[in-house]
Amino acid sequence: MTELKKRPVRSYILRQGRLTKYQENGIKRFSSKYTIPFQKSLINFDQVFSKKNKIILEVGFGMGDTTFKMAQEMHDLNFLAIEVHSPGVGSLLNKINLGQLENLKIIQHDALEVINEMIPDRSLDGIHIFFPDPWPKKKHHKRRLLKSSFLELMESKLALAGYIHIATDWEAYALQIIDLVKESKFYKISKRNLNEKPQSRPLTKYESRGLRLGHQVWDIIITLR
Ligand SMILES: C[S@@+](CC[C@H](N)C(=O)[O-])C[C@H]1O[C@@H](n2cnc3c(N)ncnc32)[C@H](O)[C@@H]1O
Repeated sequence: MTELKKRPVRSYILRQGRLTKYQENGIKRFSSKYTIPFQKSLINFDQVFSKKNKIILEVGFGMGDTTFKMAQEMHDLNFLAIEVHSPGVGSLLNKINLGQLENLKIIQHDALEVINEMIPDRSLDGIHIFFPDPWPKKKHHKRRLLKSSFLELMESKLALAGYIHIATDWEAYALQIIDLVKESKFYKISKRNLNEKPQSRPLTKYESRGLRLGHQVWDIIITLR
């Protein structure tokens, strides 16, 4: 009997094309300096970053404006930023080069696989997930990144005093995430007004769109129990 191999449900769909010349050039010229290829072995952060500092992982940086701002303002943190789409990768590479940032590196690959294969346990001081795709249709909910298996995986990668910062402008998703965290034996939600943006997080591109549509934004910060 032939066994059908089940394709994993991804939290993104890769769209082709629409890479500007500038983005393409950014990828050609600066990938070797600022990106880390996906590999099935653990990263040695001491070899990746020039300074030994706390590590912040970002999942899904989009066009990377917020990521760049944060890394530029917080020199004493090392940022590892993951995204699958080439236009954002090209854009951020150009920015890193212009700013000559030493504390921001990119991996272009599915974050789930990167976290599973490359991130050592208890090595992350922060995980940023700013505006994960909300997948609003019920038939697509299975594509949502934030689910109990993902929270469980991140638990093993977080340093004991680490945090996960999730922002979303999709109310139903925010409430689902809050429920998942409350049900989890690993995490607690930091006590703060969830509808108030922390100063540490600059506005993101996706967020600006949500605000224009009149959406409310949730910033959910969770830590280990
Ligand atoms: C809604 S956008 C938000 C982008 C950005 N954080 C912002 O706020 O402007 C979500 C991003 O997450 C990326 N993404 C989704 N799932 C991912 C995964 N498994 N690995 C890497 N990136 C992912 C998508 O490609 C997309 O760019």
